[in-house]
Amino acid sequence: MSQSKTPQAGIFKEGSHHFYFLEYRLNSSDISQVKQAMTECLNAVSNVSVVVSFGEEAWRFLQPNWMPETFKSFEPLQGQQGHQAPSTQSDVFFWLHGDDISTVFDAALIIHAQMKSVANLSLQERGFSYHQNKDLIGFEDGTANPKTDELKRDAAVIADGRLGAGGSLILTQKWVHDLDKWNSIPVHCQEAVVGRTKQENIELEGSEMPDDSHISRTDLTVAGVPMKMYRRSAPFGSVTEKGLLFLAFGSELVRFTSQLESMYGLTEDQKIDQLLNFSKAVTGSYWFAPSQEDLSEMLNF
Ligand code: HEM
Repeated sequence: MSQSKTPQAGIFKEGSHHFYFLEYRLNSSDISQVKQAMTECLNAVSNVSVVVSFGEEAWRFLQPNWMPETFKSFEPLQGQQGHQAPSTQSDVFFWLHGDDISTVFDAALIIHAQMKSVANLSLQERGFSYHQNKDLIGFEDGTANPKTDELKRDAAVIADGRLGAGGSLILTQKWVHDLDKWNSIPVHCQEAVVGRTKQENIELEGSEMPDDSHISRTDLTVAGVPMKMYRRSAPFGSVTEKGLLFLAFGSELVRFTSQLESMYGLTEDQKIDQLLNFSKAVTGSYWFAPSQEDLSEMLNF
């Protein structure tokens, strides 16, 4: 029996306090130059977790022999009540994280020094951990993530036997919060929007749980399969623009598409996630993070 491939180690490393998001649009058509630049990046960075992933076009360019099943570029969504999820799909995404902002920032500089010779920077954001895993809306984020290594792998990693096995599909979206609006509503209304209590972090039950809460719109089962994903989002921002860098790993694309459609009211009941009235997606991309073995083979390092 063939050995399972190894997910990139940074995906499952938890406990970091600092995060860096770098997205690039390739501008070189010289495949060996691109691979060389990426190999230099990965060889030069140490002491920091790095996950590298690719958009659909970039993967086809760099690895024309195969594509993970169902993988595609992010397409914009037009919600039922005027909310939009824009696509800002580009080519290469580096997710860096670690305990110390100095080493994370050094790693971002090293990566950029290499990548700027083959690509244009399309997004850079710095994320941070906030009051023990809280989002800036004051609720803990990540609670319902799968807990054991096995469940995390089931949710986040493409299963053995499929193209791209050992790799992960990724959804990233930068969400900008309207915290003035959010903080102007009473806590019990915020709890109804999220679907959990703020202080004790307990899921609302029965008639207490609105069917347009964030939990109701995202705790989904499709064709008998729970749409579990492994979320690693981080707050970002300044006193002016601020929000959430949403980042989730999934074993199949339907886990993301089903939840986004449900949040934006593109389902039979046409209800939207009430969070959309307090936060706005301003970017959106799908990525493929190949297994360690497939990444090494593709880059020849
Ligand atoms: C403004 C953006 C968002 C904020 C502030 C946010 C915040 C939260 C919070 C506070 C929870 C409850 C605690 C937890 O289980 O983590 C939660 C749960 C969840 N969120 Fe989000 N989220 C956002 C966007 C999204 C998006 C875009 C998706 C998927 C496409 C998503 C998927 C989920 C899932 C799957 C859960 C767990 C549901 C369950 O209980 O099984 N979230 N989110």
